[in-house]
This record gives sequence, C-alpha cells and structure tokens, in this order.
Amino acid sequence: MESLIPVISKLQDVFAAVGSRENEVQLPQIVVVGSQSAGKSSVIEGIVGRDFLPRGSGIVTRRPLLIHLYNTPINAEERSHHKTKDDWATFEHIPGKIFTDFEKVREEIECETNRSTGTNKGISNETITLKVFSARVVTLSLIDLPGITKVPVGDQPPDIEILIRDMILFYIRNPQSLILAVTPANQDFANSEALKLAREVDPNGDRTLCVLTKLDLMDRGTDALDVLLGDIISVKLGIIGVVNRSQEDIIANKSIEDCLNDETSFLHKKYPTLAPKNGIQYLAKTLNKLLIHHIRETLPQLKHRIAKMITEFQEALNAMGEPIVDHKKTFLQVLNHFSSAYIATLDGSSKNVESSYVV
Ligand code: GDP
Ligand code: NA
Ligand code: MG
Repeated sequence: MESLIPVISKLQDVFAAVGSRENEVQLPQIVVVGSQSAGKSSVIEGIVGRDFLPRGSGIVTRRPLLIHLYNTPINAEERSHHKTKDDWATFEHIPGKIFTDFEKVREEIECETNRSTGTNKGISNETITLKVFSARVVTLSLIDLPGITKVPVGDQPPDIEILIRDMILFYIRNPQSLILAVTPANQDFANSEALKLAREVDPNGDRTLCVLTKLDLMDRGTDALDVLLGDIISVKLGIIGVVNRSQEDIIANKSIEDCLNDETSFLHKKYPTLAPKNGIQYLAKTLNKLLIHHIRETLPQLKHRIAKMITEFQEALNAMGEPIVDHKKTFLQVLNHFSSAYIATLDGSSKNVESSYVV
C-alpha cells in the first residue's frame, strides 16, 4: 500500500500538467488549520524533519503552501558513492532549480509570498507548490495555511477574518482533505477555533485529526491529560500531543533532531502512559496511515474517472492525427503504474491496512 502514495503524487502532477479543471481528479491531502501562532508551520516542519518554513509570532504564513513530501530511500550503493548527499527541494514556480540548502527554501517561500501579497501582512489565495525529497520523510502531501485571525493588521482588509476563513474552508470542504486541527495546549480546548471550523465541514469527524501543540507551555501544576484522553472533546481519529520548537530554540538554532529527542523525554516524563501515542513522529506515522486508508477508500471512484479520462484523451489524440509521443507515453506509463498498484491493493488483503490503522 505504501507504494500507492507516490503513484497518487505522480497522477497529481499529470493532472496538473493536463490542466483540465473539468476532469480534475480530487486527490487526498492533509490540510493544516488553526488559529494564528497555534504552531501549524512548526508541526509541518516537525513532520518534514527539516527547518525550512517561515514561522514566528503574528501572521507569517500568508499564502497557501502545498508541500509534497517524497520518501526517497537511499540504497547502500548510493550511500557508499555519496551520490545522494542530502535532502533536496524544488518549487513549481522555478522549474528545474534544485534546492539543497533549506535556508534558501525558506527565503524563496518568503520572497514568493511577498511577490503576490506585498510585505505588509497581506494575504493571497495563490498557492505556492514545494516538493521535498528525503529519505527521512513519509510520502504525503500537506497544505500550510494562514491562521484564523480576528483583527486586521498592516495591509489586511477589514474583512480579513472572513477572507482567511473562506480560504481555509475552500481547502477543508474538499471531502478528499484530511483536516489537521492544530490547537495550543495553553488555550481553552473546548473553544478550539480549529475544531469549530473542522466541524462545519466534517460534522462526523471522519477526516479530522487533532494536534495539541505547546504541551511544554502549560501553566505550572496543570496538564493536558483530560484533553489527550478525549475527555473534554472526543475526536474520532485522535488527539495527538506534541512539543514543537520554541521561538528560543529557533533563535538558538537548535536542531530538529535535538528537539525531537527532547520532545520524547518530555512526553515520557510528564505523560508516561501516553508517550507512545503522542509526539511528532507518531503524528507523522498516523498521518501516513490515514492517508493510505483514505486513498484506498477512494480508489474505485478514482479508477472510474481515470478510465474516462483515458478515453477522452485517446479520442482527442486520435483527432489530432500526429501523436504527441512523449506526453502520451508519460501519461500512459503513469496510468499503467497506477493500475498495477491498484490491482495490488485488490489482491492484498485489507487486513494490513486495518491492523496498521491504529488511531
Ligand atoms: P502558526 O502561525 O500556527 O504557523 O505557528 P508557528 O509554527 O509559526 O509558531 C508560532 C510560534 O509558536 C513560534 O515562535 C514557535 O516557535 C512557537 N511554538 C509552536 N509550537 C510550539 C510548542 O509546541 N512549544 C513551544 N514552546 N513553542 C511553540
Ligand atoms: Na505565526
Ligand atoms: Mg504558519
């Protein structure tokens, strides 16, 4: 099943290249929502295991950022020949350019954000698309969005609250979206803005997973045990507590690796019984499983639409006379690939998916 996600990502590329809205196949992705500074971008960085997103207090994320993560296993031979040195990234708006310095990735996101929104806190619907290739990530797609906010600042229009709300709703309304509702542990969980928005589009909670950030910033003498156990609000897919990098850690340039280790120690110390089912790494694994489960459920519908597209494109190609060999070949290759992966799922027992579906 793991292999299905890269296939889906490829299909996504093909559909983007074909650019036909009408034929658009809706593919699953994870949308991160929450109030401003709840820790959304930090959670994404933790999942990616790289320090590459603009973060901080105030409105930092001002355009939707679509991040495709690709797991690219390094084999022993490559490693011994130092062929694959590190992780790398590419942007859709700069075709052909490969980024290996993630500091530059952050600069490019900032630069590209400012290009369409100006430097004074404006927001825009225009998506930035980033691909990250790494041996350390699980293959999945994430969307980082501006946070829910109430009061306009800088160049923001008076109706900023509605604009951001609409932007978030646009992404989470899609039944193929998994909603990652990010809520800080040092705020009243019963009033979670993220969960309120998620409920509007997913009342049964079938595709909402909650992330409780800032476990380390709770008032002394309090803990999040009742929230994590689902006693305050129960979330069907689960509530996963995390400790992200603090602003201090960011300034001190503390490595993500060190932060993950410290998070593990923190969880074991403060929540010994819950530690194995919390933390950023557990979150990443859970997301991958949910995504696979989700893809699996949508496969029959997806296959139907693809079959229809093949027919349509074949007809269009025939009508053109001279075949555009390259495009046709690539498209058919991807479809073939998809079909074999699909058949593999049907052949494989569903037991695997169900038993690994632990939330
Ligand atoms: P966003 O606006 O929701 O994307 O939030 P950011 O990821 O930009 O985080 C806002 C600020 O909160 C940053 O300074 C982060 O370092 C800090 N922060 C986020 N999560 C945590 C956490 O779990 N613990 C601590 N101590 N700080 C956090
Ligand atoms: Na922020
Ligand atoms: Mg952000």
